[in-house]
Amino acid sequence: MSSTTDTPQTSTDAAGAFVVHPSAAPATDEVRTAALAAPKFGTVFTDHMARISWSQQAGWHDRRVEAYGPLQLDPACAVLHYAQEIFEGLKAYRHADGSVWTFRAGANAARFASSARRLALPVLPEQDFLAAIEALVRTDVDWVPSGDEMSLYLRPFMYASENFIGVRATLEAEFLVIASPVGPYFASGVHPVSIWVAEDYHRAGAGGTGAAKCGGNYAASLVAQQEAYTQGCEQVCFLDSETNTYLEELGGMNVFVVGADGRVLTPELTGSILEGVTRSSIIQLLTDAGRTVEERRISLAEVRAGLETGEVAEVFACGTAAVVTPIGRLAGNGFDLTVGDGTAGAVTTAIRAELTDIQYGRLADRHGWMHRLV
Ligand code: COI
Repeated sequence: MSSTTDTPQTSTDAAGAFVVHPSAAPATDEVRTAALAAPKFGTVFTDHMARISWSQQAGWHDRRVEAYGPLQLDPACAVLHYAQEIFEGLKAYRHADGSVWTFRAGANAARFASSARRLALPVLPEQDFLAAIEALVRTDVDWVPSGDEMSLYLRPFMYASENFIGVRATLEAEFLVIASPVGPYFASGVHPVSIWVAEDYHRAGAGGTGAAKCGGNYAASLVAQQEAYTQGCEQVCFLDSETNTYLEELGGMNVFVVGADGRVLTPELTGSILEGVTRSSIIQLLTDAGRTVEERRISLAEVRAGLETGEVAEVFACGTAAVVTPIGRLAGNGFDLTVGDGTAGAVTTAIRAELTDIQYGRLADRHGWMHRLV
């Protein structure tokens, strides 16, 4: 994701390579309309899923869209034992004229390929990644919501499907895309969230899988996330594992700090932080607007001191699911601080509006980030 002006996507014809096997029992219009009314994040799924199989012998084959449904796994299936699995998250947005678009899907495809390399999974060609999304969204286009702040969340993933419990890279894999109509990620809606800084647990370390989007990183974050809940917070923030000093990322989002002087800071990519698509888009948009954005190490001590003196004015989280979410409270062992006055700050509010205006087609897409699906 070194360039934030993405290359044009040309997957349209490739979507035709997917054979569509329509669901025998799609949701009725009434059921779908009710499901789209106010879906809780990640709980409602569309009628179909896209799928491609891989084996070392046959390569990528059997591109299809089929009825959404349970996967049958042998108890010896490798992913159940060694967590050889990766995923992505992106969204399809319905614009006011009814058309449906993705945002920087090529960046997700590239990150998926790099996650696959790190997890010793086969690399799915970018064309197939984009075509699978296109084929699924076209099939289930009626599931793309049009409500405020709503979208169709797309979850591409790949897992080791070989039935073998020896420890080595799989010789068989399955790639799937499922889709879920969503509103805001947090149950509280788009409101400031509270963050617990974990000092006893780390998400990733040097040479590990922190920069890959693999299930194992999220599994490693859950006990700390539970600790955050126990402490009355909604999300956890991890520090670097080497010195327990510098902010890394939240359980599933990147983090930004805004100074009272208007400078914006975000942790630099050290190899243990996920290179978020939303993160890099925000850096680009803020830079376009003439702001100084520093990607560097940010110590917890610096943020705590800045919150106490007022030098830190805003803190926000970002990610595909969370978009831009203000952080209103930062707590940890021995401290509990309100960020600003606890409400969303001006920079957070403005960058959220600019990003979502581009995504929903209300603002010019000057970087060529949007790609029309329907
Ligand atoms: C996303 O933002 O899409 C993610 O994959 C993170 C997860 C918290 C939903």
